[in-house]
Amino acid sequence: MTKVLRTIAELRAWRNALPSGSKVGLVPTMGALHAGHISLMDLAKTHCDTVIASIFVNPLQFGPQEDLARYPRPIEKDIALLEASGVDALFLPEPTEVYPSDNSTFVVEEAVSLPLCGALRPGHFRGVATVVLKLFNLTQPHFAFFGQKDAQQCAVIERMVRDLNVPVEIVRGAIVREADGLAMSSRNVYLDPAQRAAAPLLYQSLLAAFEAYKAGERDAAKLEALGRATLAHEPSIAIQYWEVRDRSSLAPLQTVGNDGCLIALAAFLGSTRLIDNVLL
Ligand code: PAF
Repeated sequence: MTKVLRTIAELRAWRNALPSGSKVGLVPTMGALHAGHISLMDLAKTHCDTVIASIFVNPLQFGPQEDLARYPRPIEKDIALLEASGVDALFLPEPTEVYPSDNSTFVVEEAVSLPLCGALRPGHFRGVATVVLKLFNLTQPHFAFFGQKDAQQCAVIERMVRDLNVPVEIVRGAIVREADGLAMSSRNVYLDPAQRAAAPLLYQSLLAAFEAYKAGERDAAKLEALGRATLAHEPSIAIQYWEVRDRSSLAPLQTVGNDGCLIALAAFLGSTRLIDNVLL
């Protein structure tokens, strides 16, 4: 039975009642759970004695023109999925429970969060880092699990944990894909049939660069040109970025060195913004 905790007081009482030796894993989510999230719950169960998920559509990480209001919230279905995957507890707070009306303290990471999504979604990673640190403080997990699909989010959280000496080990879960390669995302439900049919091209553009890399190409500009060319003839896809970056600092690269790289993209299909990446 997944225990649903709606208030900070309930969460703290639940946490305090756990046996002192129990290894606790946290899987923070915004709900609309799919197989990618469930794979994180499964991964958490292999590391931890007790697994808690959170579902909180965090207003602080959405820009004024973004999809906060329409973000899917199928909460009954989500709870059933958590039950089925054997998650011990769910923290399911209201925004007023998480943020006092005069909340004035935020977490700002000032390097890894700046390029890519950070440049295009001002304030997004400030919102993510702030809520994740709050969730860590409330839950006091030994491990926390995040999906590699949000590679920049993982890098920002890892940097925050390192810089602020947060005693939590961050574990990245592999990207889970649909049969046609589209990375699973809660936002895929926004796609109309034509956009859904075009969306797997995003992953194909990453694979095109991956194949060239395997064949020996190390010039970042050439890899980028290949990936972008894969998408050039699909009018329903508008690329926001498609870039070759250092895998941990996210700095731009001219040449891919021995420690590989991250290739990351963001694109709009209509009004739906999707991201994807591969590690080479
Ligand atoms: O990846 C997400 O779903 C969110 O950014 C997170 C980590 C739950 C913070 O709100």
